[in-house]
Amino acid sequence: MSTTPVAIIGAGPAGLLLSQILYTHGVDNIVIEAQSRAEVESTVRAGILEQGTVKFLRKYGVAKRLDRVAEIDDFINYSIAGELVRVNLKEITGNSLAVYPQHEVLIDLIAQRLKDGGEIWFSTTVKEIKDHKTDHPTVVYTKADGTRGELTADYVVGADGSKSVARKLITADGGKRLKYEYPYAWLGIMVNAPQTDPPLIYATHPDGYALVSTRTASVQRYYVQCDPDDTIEDWPDERIWEAMHTRVDSDEVTVSDGEITSKTVLRFRSTVTDKLQSGRLFIAGDAAHTVPPTGAKGLNLAVADIAVLGPALARAIKKGDTELLDRYTEEVIPRIWQTQHFSYWMSSMLHSVDTGDQTADDFQTERRLAELRGVLGNPDGRKFQATQYVGLDMPDYEV
Ligand code: DHB
Repeated sequence: MSTTPVAIIGAGPAGLLLSQILYTHGVDNIVIEAQSRAEVESTVRAGILEQGTVKFLRKYGVAKRLDRVAEIDDFINYSIAGELVRVNLKEITGNSLAVYPQHEVLIDLIAQRLKDGGEIWFSTTVKEIKDHKTDHPTVVYTKADGTRGELTADYVVGADGSKSVARKLITADGGKRLKYEYPYAWLGIMVNAPQTDPPLIYATHPDGYALVSTRTASVQRYYVQCDPDDTIEDWPDERIWEAMHTRVDSDEVTVSDGEITSKTVLRFRSTVTDKLQSGRLFIAGDAAHTVPPTGAKGLNLAVADIAVLGPALARAIKKGDTELLDRYTEEVIPRIWQTQHFSYWMSSMLHSVDTGDQTADDFQTERRLAELRGVLGNPDGRKFQATQYVGLDMPDYEV
């Protein structure tokens, strides 16, 4: 049996960043991750970091490579049924976005933790957490070779993703998990092609949504709206290119196409658990809430949780001061709902819905295009949209 002040389940953005913050404040911790290091470092996720996230990663010394290589984008662009609308985020909000894929953030965090002597147990699964209402919560784990062990901690944090084992103990203790399933999904592709100009375009069209994003000068990330039940077999390359060009191209833009190297279907689901603590167990990131991908808020919202939970745990352990820790749920819930609403709202303005009632669907198409044109055509609407998109300020707590 081993012990550590903080046992963290999950080596995603929330778990690894928490580990880094605790280490910076002199608090030992162990991260347990079900996947191998290679799997964690190669899983493709979204690629947009808010300024607050970048500043926060910088504060904790894990933004050196990001600062060297990330592309900084001052604009979000829309293509509304063939009309390009550029929104200058920098001019409106004073902030820009960093284009830096999530798995690159994880590569940097893992390298830093291991360099500092941090412990990350990869390929180790957690099926059970015991005694979380006592002062010695214990994680029961199984290593890849089948050996079982127990890790006892002062605190346990479930940063173990949307299928969280930790969350089950919290919902069993009165936490409610609110859910919404969307009637659409995305097909995401990686493409060997030069950048489209401009490189970030949220496009909508009576047929539906498409997104142009980028990874490097020669690798692009695109998405097209599809049905939640579609599989990649429903989307041969020709169908994808036809949809991309129909939905995005305009007098000013032609989507740059090329060889498609991967295809995946992303389901849309919003969830919020309204209680993020039970005894000495806490949840953060996707374990606590999931947002649909529109707006790329998932990682950024996980960072905002940890910007509270990290300093709160460090204060509790270093100073015996649990005031902030006791307030964790109420402190992070308002931002979770703000972000949930923003992702929902962006999604609803950009996607078409097929209910089978053509007249009602056509009505909704015209209504949502009018909404988008109204928001972007009005300085206050643009400002609201831009401010939310670049991201609210990160919570900033000293220890
Ligand atoms: C990306 C993903 C998103 O969900 C988004 O809104 C913007 C960009 C991306 O993968 O690059």
